[in-house]
Amino acid sequence: MSGVRLFLSALLLVTTHAAADLAHWPRQSSPFPIDSGEEARLDGIIAGMSLSDKVGQVIMGEIQYTSPKDVKRYRLGAVLNGGGSFPDKERHASAADWLTLADAYYQASVDRDDGRPVIPVIWGTDAVHGHNNVFGATLFPHNIGLGATADSELLRLIGAATAREVAATGIYWNFAPTIAVPRNDRWGRTYEGYSEHPELVAELGAALIEGMQGAVGRDFMAPGKVLATAKHFLGDGGTRDGVDQGRTWASEEELVRIHAAGYRTALKSGAQTVMASFSSWNGVKMHANPYLLQDALKGAMGFDGFVLGDWDAHSQIPGCKPHNCPEALNAGVDMYMAPKRWKRLHRNLLRQARNGEITIARLDDAVRRILRVKLRAGLLDAPPPSQRPVASGNEGDAVSRSGWIGHPDHRALARSAVRQSLVLLKNEGRVLPIAPKSRVLVAGAAASNVPNQLGGWSMTWQGDDIGNPDFPGATSILDGVRAAVQGGGGTMLFRQFAEVPGGQEEPLPDVALLVYGEEPYAEYEGDVETLEFGPRDKSHLQAAGRLQAAGVPVVSVLLNGRPLAVVNEIAASDAFVVAWLPGSEGAGVADVLIARANGEPHFDFRGRLPFSWPGSPDQAELNQGDEPYEPAFPFGFGLRYERAR
Ligand code: GLC
Repeated sequence: MSGVRLFLSALLLVTTHAAADLAHWPRQSSPFPIDSGEEARLDGIIAGMSLSDKVGQVIMGEIQYTSPKDVKRYRLGAVLNGGGSFPDKERHASAADWLTLADAYYQASVDRDDGRPVIPVIWGTDAVHGHNNVFGATLFPHNIGLGATADSELLRLIGAATAREVAATGIYWNFAPTIAVPRNDRWGRTYEGYSEHPELVAELGAALIEGMQGAVGRDFMAPGKVLATAKHFLGDGGTRDGVDQGRTWASEEELVRIHAAGYRTALKSGAQTVMASFSSWNGVKMHANPYLLQDALKGAMGFDGFVLGDWDAHSQIPGCKPHNCPEALNAGVDMYMAPKRWKRLHRNLLRQARNGEITIARLDDAVRRILRVKLRAGLLDAPPPSQRPVASGNEGDAVSRSGWIGHPDHRALARSAVRQSLVLLKNEGRVLPIAPKSRVLVAGAAASNVPNQLGGWSMTWQGDDIGNPDFPGATSILDGVRAAVQGGGGTMLFRQFAEVPGGQEEPLPDVALLVYGEEPYAEYEGDVETLEFGPRDKSHLQAAGRLQAAGVPVVSVLLNGRPLAVVNEIAASDAFVVAWLPGSEGAGVADVLIARANGEPHFDFRGRLPFSWPGSPDQAELNQGDEPYEPAFPFGFGLRYERAR
């Protein structure tokens, strides 16, 4: 290690440890009792591994840059498919196609005849709101909408359903849930957070994990379960100005109370992997922070699984490159997510292990943690992916012909989640629910465009460059309204904003339902300067104004990945509904907005704001407990039909 890098590393350590105090951290231990038999088995495996095997085990490559042959030659521990990455780059790949590739990686990883231990590779994916990379999968509301439900049992069921669809494709590990606590809504990943409220995040994250993995001591990693990932450790939602991968400045007490709340419960629920955050804490990058990764997480909090780095995030450590960064392993990252440059990284890590830049003890600890998780999860003894019970085609008659992917039960669960996530901010004159035997005008391209209701991480990373045909089985908001209104003897019209209220010859509608919102985004692409909605295009507002001038009641449905300053939109609406990013089952919106024939609601609103709602665009950092606290609508707000009586 060069003198400069040595100095930087030393400076880093001093900075990190200067004022730190582990007394701030919850003392807890792994929910898994140490199993001496398992540890002895790990001893044997590690003893039989070559140095090159060990280095390979701590590296994850991306499937577009990592062949099964590579996995065999370098003995890689893991592969991933990034957002928008598919077998053969085919976005409409079937579950069978995913399974075929999973089998190829698995077989390559166990194919060796040199007498050294056989260690299956593990495949990780971002199934962050259902198995969102897979054609025909069920897409659940993004976490912000699930936060509005505040229903941990629902989260548990969603975790289990998501796991079944992931397992059906032969994938063993899901990089979810994000248990960030977003504190500045300018952040492009606000919608990946359940709430600004740490304890709500802690409750929902733990439930998702238990549903995804099964409960420790009960059905942990039973057939149809997959490993979860608690991410991104630590303080990803607390960066200044909500800058993604930015700088979190906070006291250690605040960091633990707010940003570590979800990890306390995630680890107790058996989370076996934690993904390190791109962000930094008080000037030190998380991927280079041994105090937080080793002393706090693995020491005080008793985490005995492994820490996965984020997408080349180690390269952001001063002095590091994607292919050269001993600092990350030395700081407590146990596996590098090195999508493209993993070959050079393998070569450099091997050299650094030989020359002492990386201690063998630290390398062995990282390998042991990875192997412990693979052993606990049953992967070391599992059959090839396509022969596992829940793999597509093996489900038996318990599952409809289409298999688990997009299973009707999962879609029904997702539709229920949509209903429970909707938040009613305004309902003057009981405009809602809408009697089905009405003339209902639906306006706005977003009403029929499924991508608008999905958000990012949907077939593609950004949720862009996609269309309704990419989501067979999905229903748009318009689909749901049409079925409910026409089913109730009413009439439904669909127009673009510019066309409303319609030509002179057209009778005016009884009510207008305007659907509008944010365009899909993910990560830093979604960072914004203010919370103003639609700065350029105001056609939705103009349409609302014309409708109200014509005496037509206006219901607005907002599709949003974060709270937005929509004071004008709310003023121009008689009723205002926050729908967040509802996922593939858009019909769930009509379930609540369109009434029974007798005018009674099919379902009442249940959603409550999981984030404080701003009155002005500059109120991006607005959280319950602030002094002063002047939201347009406070955390927990949500109207009901019931109370409106
Ligand atoms: C991304 C995200 C992380 C995701 C990973 C793999 O950069 O930060 O949440 O799991 O890369 O796609």
